[in-house]
Amino acid sequence: MAELKFKDFLNKDGIANADAPIWFKKRIDIRKAFPSPYLEKKDTLAAIVSNAVIKVDSLKHEEGGSSLLGDGPFDPQGPRYQDAQKAELAPRMQDLEETIDQSVALFQGLSNWNHPLSMPNVIPPANIASMTAAMLTEIFSPNIIEGEYAWNVELAELESAAIIARLLGWDPEVAGGLYTFGGSGCYFYGLKYALTRVLGKESRSTGIRTDGKVLVSQQGHYCKMNSTDWTGLGMNNIVNIQTDDKTNCMDIEYLEEVMEELFKAGTPIISIICTMGSTDAFAVDQVKKVRELIEKYPNPPGFGKPFLYCDAVIGWAWLCFKSYDFDKNPMQFRPQVIAAIKANMQAIKEMEFADAIGCDFHKVGWSPYNCSLFMVKDIGEFQRLMSRPGSDYLQERTTYNPGNYTLEVSRSGSYAMAGWATLKHFGHEGFQAVLGGILEVQHELRERIRAESDMVCVNPDDNGFVTLFRIYPKGVDASTQYAKELSWPDCKDELMKHNRLQENVADKLWNWLKEDRVIDGDHLTYTSLSTGFRPTKYNRDESDPNAMIYALKSFPMNVFIDADSMNTLVKVVKAARDEAIAAGWL
Ligand SMILES: Cc1ncc(COP(=O)(O)O)c(C=O)c1O
Repeated sequence: MAELKFKDFLNKDGIANADAPIWFKKRIDIRKAFPSPYLEKKDTLAAIVSNAVIKVDSLKHEEGGSSLLGDGPFDPQGPRYQDAQKAELAPRMQDLEETIDQSVALFQGLSNWNHPLSMPNVIPPANIASMTAAMLTEIFSPNIIEGEYAWNVELAELESAAIIARLLGWDPEVAGGLYTFGGSGCYFYGLKYALTRVLGKESRSTGIRTDGKVLVSQQGHYCKMNSTDWTGLGMNNIVNIQTDDKTNCMDIEYLEEVMEELFKAGTPIISIICTMGSTDAFAVDQVKKVRELIEKYPNPPGFGKPFLYCDAVIGWAWLCFKSYDFDKNPMQFRPQVIAAIKANMQAIKEMEFADAIGCDFHKVGWSPYNCSLFMVKDIGEFQRLMSRPGSDYLQERTTYNPGNYTLEVSRSGSYAMAGWATLKHFGHEGFQAVLGGILEVQHELRERIRAESDMVCVNPDDNGFVTLFRIYPKGVDASTQYAKELSWPDCKDELMKHNRLQENVADKLWNWLKEDRVIDGDHLTYTSLSTGFRPTKYNRDESDPNAMIYALKSFPMNVFIDADSMNTLVKVVKAARDEAIAAGWL
């Protein structure tokens, strides 16, 4: 047996001979678990994948059906995870078809993000170009750690960076970008770069030993905690900057007071983070003014210049309107929408003054998770500060080897392919149609709410996609009541009572969605709740956790949402309110 060559174990039809060793027979069997290494007459892999896509797609409903995949009603207490610990590796291989069926079954109950009734918190459906491009990387696994393992797939990262640099007004020859694992990943990259610039390259060896500060809007995303924690700087070094009452942006005067104080105390600032579109209120901080303050209050001698990072994961795509002719308005957006687009574009374009920014394609790039691009204005500086000695088992066989300075070692090509394919496929026009169209729909909802005396939009001045609104008991004039709750400390009990109503309505909507309740012929709209849209006016420092504004939230991210979706939303919210009150919601 030992002297036989492997080929001798096979008969002329490529089947293992009866006397071949067991390991060999199993090895021949398991080859079916992999795509053929050769060009086939009939592409077996394509047929299997196509079949699986058909199966998962068949979980969708016909027009007018539920926004949840699969056959409801679903378990009101679900999804249940308590049996997960019982999972174990089976002794034998399982049939491929069965494995695919089990995979498809895991999608039962998940929201169909593309459905006209699906508008929860910032979850966009992926466009076809992005999902196809990402899927291609699953077949041949390019690893964009270096050119040798990715060949031309690296162009997807390099070209994306050049496209975004041009949109930002940065020199594409000097700027650069790296795809990474999310908006929080970009933030993390930004903070590490900032720490290294301010504390010096040697801090990467000696560790972070200086309590430098990170200044960020109190409405900035909570991943400020992830980054300060995971870099070792410590969450206590975050200085939350109060926001302006009306715009929800960082209050620049307050920011200056903080910077002046730190300057006088000789405390270095590691980074100032501008949020370019906060998750709820779409607050866009004033980057140019922040840049001026950085020049005015330099760090103490021995420290690098404070770093200016823009968390633009929600806002970056408005850059695609930079060249839009607002006078001619070729897309024919309505006047209120064109005004909002212009305001967004003008605020966002200030990012040219940043040192680095984060863009999520899995938010306003309509690409699958994960897909985020961390952009730096000076890739040369980033490489100098962040590079490590190479590895013994990797050689620089091409001119692009980002693994020398990235956090990740292996880097999936799927993020880059998805983002790049979206940029290619959409162009300016595609982004403009999607972004502007969402504002048109958002505007419809706000108009609809304005017509209801027991409902009030609590972010009427925001120009983002989100509409935050509160519903009150019938007969209550919502606008007047909300104005009191927002400003008057002696209305705090009423605020809290009505906060509970919003929560109760949101919980009901979630449960009805799972139950597949139909109200007046319509399935449920899938929405969200924000329990901290903003503090009341008398609680600007957020020291009182009860003096916060709760609001129901519509985040209409898909292009199938229309005015009818918004009518249904108002109807189901009212039905939930009525049922909550009938059940004594207190
Ligand atoms: C403003 C902002 N920054 C950062 C993040 C974190 O992004 P990710 O979930 O992609 O890590 C989010 C997520 O919603 C966000 O809204």
